[in-house]
Amino acid sequence: MHILVTGCAGFIGSHTTERLLLDGHRVRGVDCFTDNYDPALKRSHLIGVAGHPQFELIESDLVTADPHALLSGIDAVLHLAGQPGVRDSWASGFEIYVQRNITATQRLLEAAKSTNISRFAAASSSSVYGNAETYPTTELAVPQPVSPYGVTKLAAEHLCTLYAKNFAVPTVSLRYFTVYGPRQRPDMALRRMIDMSLDGKAFPLFGDGSVSRSFTYINDVVEANLAALLSDAPSGSVCNIANESTASMTELIGLVSSALGQPVQLDHLPAAAGDAERTGGSSDLAKQLLGWSPSTTLEEGVAEMVAWCRQEQARSPR
Ligand SMILES: NC(=O)c1ccc[n+]([C@@H]2O[C@H](COP(=O)([O-])OP(=O)(O)OC[C@H]3O[C@@H](n4cnc5c(N)ncnc54)[C@H](O)[C@@H]3O)[C@@H](O)[C@H]2O)c1
Repeated sequence: MHILVTGCAGFIGSHTTERLLLDGHRVRGVDCFTDNYDPALKRSHLIGVAGHPQFELIESDLVTADPHALLSGIDAVLHLAGQPGVRDSWASGFEIYVQRNITATQRLLEAAKSTNISRFAAASSSSVYGNAETYPTTELAVPQPVSPYGVTKLAAEHLCTLYAKNFAVPTVSLRYFTVYGPRQRPDMALRRMIDMSLDGKAFPLFGDGSVSRSFTYINDVVEANLAALLSDAPSGSVCNIANESTASMTELIGLVSSALGQPVQLDHLPAAAGDAERTGGSSDLAKQLLGWSPSTTLEEGVAEMVAWCRQEQARSPR
């Protein structure tokens, strides 16, 4: 298949692009190397696929690019481009979230109306739930985001469902729950915790350590993306992509300390606005519709990620 991967240089996008190429697909990757973190890092994510005969990189901003040209000759879309992270989505930061998460998605969906693509899989987020009413949270729970970021991801997801219902665009929205592993974004807590510990610095812990998450390993998320692209799940579907076993920050700190062979030093700070108290997703629907379930335990994933962070530090000491 010829697949359009938006956000191909990002954490999830670069891993998925590599895997699609390995599986023999053609990939047209789109990215505009936004500065939510160092664009040079994003370029480095593409080193493994640069020059691959089946890979084409289009440096283009989805907020302004011609989406018809991007979709020309494409069989399926994996739409991962977006502005992630909850903390910067307040105040004047909000506008960029609206553009990159809502406007960019609407423009792509509008153009997808007049194509024959077999799938439009899009990245949503556990942030749409906010502090959910029930755990493990199913897709039937009423979304109640607690951050402007979550609001923009929910809007994008609703757009996908609208375009599925009204124009038969074959969308599937994937609500990722805290994805981690090699190349995790440098702003994410686990990455900062490991990097700061390797640098001998204290990790700023917001709140009392009781905040808990479904941590989902990147390889499992790549499998979910492939399953979504290839499955015949009904158009307009929305699925959690979550590791069902959750861990609190305190438990995570314990696992990282074991993998590092040294205790993580902490700098205790008050809880931050926009952080949900708890996320914990049920993946039953993804199993049913996509045939997907996660297979990496948090212990295994944290060990892999610590080993990768060590390698990175040795390669380019900070
Ligand atoms: N990482 C997670 O834990 C997580 C959890 C839930 C949802 N998500 C969602 O998954 C997607 C990928 O997340 P990630 O962690 O890989 O983030 P990332 O920042 O590493 O990747 C996103 C990529 O999209 C690109 N991009 C952003 N806006 C663009 C635009 N207008 N045009 C072209 N390219 C653009 C960026 O340059 C970046 O390379 C995002 O939509 C995010 O909201 C991620």
